[in-house]
Amino acid sequence: MADWPATLDGARALDAADPLSAFRERFVIADPALIYLDGNSLGRLPRATAGRLATVVEEEWGERLVRGWGEGWFEAPQRIGGKLAGLLGATADEVVLADSTSVNLFKLALAALLARPERRVVVTDDLNFPSDLYVLESAARLAGGAVRVVPSADGIHGPVEALAAALDGDTALLSLSHTVFKSGYTYDMAALTAAAHRAGAPALWDLSHSAGAVAVDLNGAAADLAVGCTYKYLNGGPGAPAFLYVRRDLQAALANPISGWIGRRDPFDFALDYAPAPGIGRFLTGTPPILSLSAVEPGVEMLLEAGMERLRERSLRLSEYLIARWQARLEPLGFRLNSPRDPARRGSHVSLGHADGLRVNLALIHDQQVLPDFRRPDNIRLGIAPLYNTFADIHTAVERLRAVVVERLYERYDATGLLVT
Ligand SMILES: Cc1ncc(COP(=O)(O)O)c(C=O)c1O
Repeated sequence: MADWPATLDGARALDAADPLSAFRERFVIADPALIYLDGNSLGRLPRATAGRLATVVEEEWGERLVRGWGEGWFEAPQRIGGKLAGLLGATADEVVLADSTSVNLFKLALAALLARPERRVVVTDDLNFPSDLYVLESAARLAGGAVRVVPSADGIHGPVEALAAALDGDTALLSLSHTVFKSGYTYDMAALTAAAHRAGAPALWDLSHSAGAVAVDLNGAAADLAVGCTYKYLNGGPGAPAFLYVRRDLQAALANPISGWIGRRDPFDFALDYAPAPGIGRFLTGTPPILSLSAVEPGVEMLLEAGMERLRERSLRLSEYLIARWQARLEPLGFRLNSPRDPARRGSHVSLGHADGLRVNLALIHDQQVLPDFRRPDNIRLGIAPLYNTFADIHTAVERLRAVVVERLYERYDATGLLVT
């Protein structure tokens, strides 16, 4: 849409015309004046989640006690994973909730490395989440291999051709963030997975910044493995359990390197030897965290109800609107677009660079009631959660960013301050 409205009333008219706008009311909005653009870090609390948690705590735990394990708790990782599969283009028996993204990445990367000991190298890029690199390095070290980090030319776009060129007969695994955390660049999963397969290697995708915001088609892309978190666009709550995906035909061939009793066949036999459970359950390790698992389910159900394609379409419209407002109102003030211009290659956050980015971000939070986050060196990251962010949010946030610079509000802040958002 080339002609975006310039006024706040125009933005409100876009909201009024959008059938997905009604979902915003299904979230706890404790402070309506706050413009929350950090759903890519921690999603908002769905109202249904608060109710579900009360039921789990008071009725299931409080009344049913240990009987709860036989009344739905034990299957919760598979049950919720099966629902989440519907947002990821996977089948229900390919996704399970477990542990953290970091731990799941370690488990699947090491499993892939140990399955192919004649191959040594994990290929990744320097746009990946740094912790993913730490995890991949430790998995590679344990398997006697190494990580090759392919650099991006501009720090924004994925080095697609250089990655394809780096894949060869020594590649044990290609591991990338599908949507990268700083610039929001989104890889063509099918193309990169095919490149890995041509080299005889599997592909492992970190979907943390895609799940719930970008239409992911794991099966369509023939993706082998994936992990991701549930506390961003899936609204599962702080530190919510993560998910992992293993394509069905690979499940029997891969061994969970942290083989614990919950991933064992018939765990209540308490047999002294380990025998993996059939299917995706073998990638579980210890007792499922029922309280935090329960908090994930209502958010996933809400996203399924909205429909991933409609959500992606709304996310793209909101992002394109944001970029149009940046161009009209912020680019003349020295803000740069640190995200891809091509919507097909962008996830659901937009990073704006500014020479005084950290101080601008601080003024935005403390003086202007806009809450984005900041990633060094200069990225003000504006996360667009299509279930609850509005065109009016974006219009207002851009005008307030402008005010911070025009009125020089940022000069009151110190760029050395620690910021956790
Ligand atoms: C892309 C990506 N991968 C991995 C992680 C780490 O996840 P966790 O700390 O839950 O293990 C994050 C955290 O934000 C992330 O953004």
